[in-house]
Amino acid sequence: MCDLGSQPGDFGFLVDVPEIRALIFDTRRLTEEIDDPKARVEALRPAFSQLLAADGWLPKEYGEPDLKSGMGGGIGQYALYRAENGSLCLFSLVIPAGAQTPIHDHLAWGLIGVYRGIQDETIYHRTDDGSNESHAKLDVARRQTVKRGEFYSLLPPIDDIHYVKTASDTPSVSIHLLANDTACVTRHRFDAVSGIVTPFRSGYSNARCTDR
Ligand SMILES: [Fe+2]
Repeated sequence: MCDLGSQPGDFGFLVDVPEIRALIFDTRRLTEEIDDPKARVEALRPAFSQLLAADGWLPKEYGEPDLKSGMGGGIGQYALYRAENGSLCLFSLVIPAGAQTPIHDHLAWGLIGVYRGIQDETIYHRTDDGSNESHAKLDVARRQTVKRGEFYSLLPPIDDIHYVKTASDTPSVSIHLLANDTACVTRHRFDAVSGIVTPFRSGYSNARCTDR
């Protein structure tokens, strides 16, 4: 969960293995070389795909549910890498069988892929002009099933609002590479029926947030 006092161990390579170092190195290089987020995310696909395909690099405890989760529902969100300036993070998200996230946004470009299990994703399209901070009109844009090794990109505001449900009978584990410090920034939770928008910080299960 978040609190106000982060320590050095809360940033950098929280899981220091060659597979993660390779992806973060490529991400930093391509971020410098390519200005356009869409082209940058496209260029990152091979490196991200490689991480999803590799076995043995994710510590066992970061692939298991978190019963004290800040997201609720036993959902674990484990930081694997965090840039101290908040520009980039890599984390695993573990959703128990049958559980689902709230409808939420991410507020950064990035890539999300499934490492274990199966996830059903429902993506929403915001039909109002976005000017009201506390209310949104949402329509389902599409649904998709994502299996091991499959991934999709985020380019907000396009396709930035979704919820994810584990469709396998074992917990699903997805890997997120996003250009912010996702669990520690104030994002939004949406109620698709009432339209109510609630600010929230999910927090990491294994690292602290700090106020920026
Ligand atoms: Fe998400």
